[in-house]
Amino acid sequence: MAANASLYKSHKMASPHEIPNDLLINQCQIQKWNSEEVFVYVLNLTWILARTIFDLGLRYSGDMILAVLVILLIYSTYKAYFSPIVYIRNLTEIGFEHVPYLKGVDGAMHLTLAQKNRQLGYKIPSPYPNGWYAIAESYELKIGTVQTATALGLNFCVYRGEDGVARVVDAYCPHLGANLGIGGEVKGNCIECPFHQPGKLWK
Ligand code: FES
Repeated sequence: MAANASLYKSHKMASPHEIPNDLLINQCQIQKWNSEEVFVYVLNLTWILARTIFDLGLRYSGDMILAVLVILLIYSTYKAYFSPIVYIRNLTEIGFEHVPYLKGVDGAMHLTLAQKNRQLGYKIPSPYPNGWYAIAESYELKIGTVQTATALGLNFCVYRGEDGVARVVDAYCPHLGANLGIGGEVKGNCIECPFHQPGKLWK
């Protein structure tokens, strides 16, 4: 240290370009040693902290489990009384107009959720008996024609593809909710969305 100080003294009037290499090397060594010291200090501190937390956990594990249970109980009581799950759906909740944040970053996620919620039998049993329901007359559905149908509390799009097979799909386009039964066109064996054609085909 004394050697460095005297060296600095003898060169203190020199410009930065003239500082000798041995002085620069010594400064670098001091800096490196300080970093190591700080690193060891932080390591020790972390180790002490981890050990303290572990010891406390061991000593008070019973209390901690009790605390977690109490928190869970309070949370479930809060959910049950102040934020209950609402299973009632309005009759107007068809399509996707009622979906909030449809255009936001999570638009696709909200759409999927809305589609899932609309499915009968999801979360609550379907109010309709499980069976076959007539929704259109086959002879009226010519190849390439599209119809809408309402049944079981849902809207459907009914069409007959070019292969002659009659198909039924959800009336509302999974993209932005256009009614495929109104303005949709049969392309091959698929139905083309009236909003964003060409190219949006569903089946
Ligand atoms: S709404 Fe149907 S493709 Fe966009």
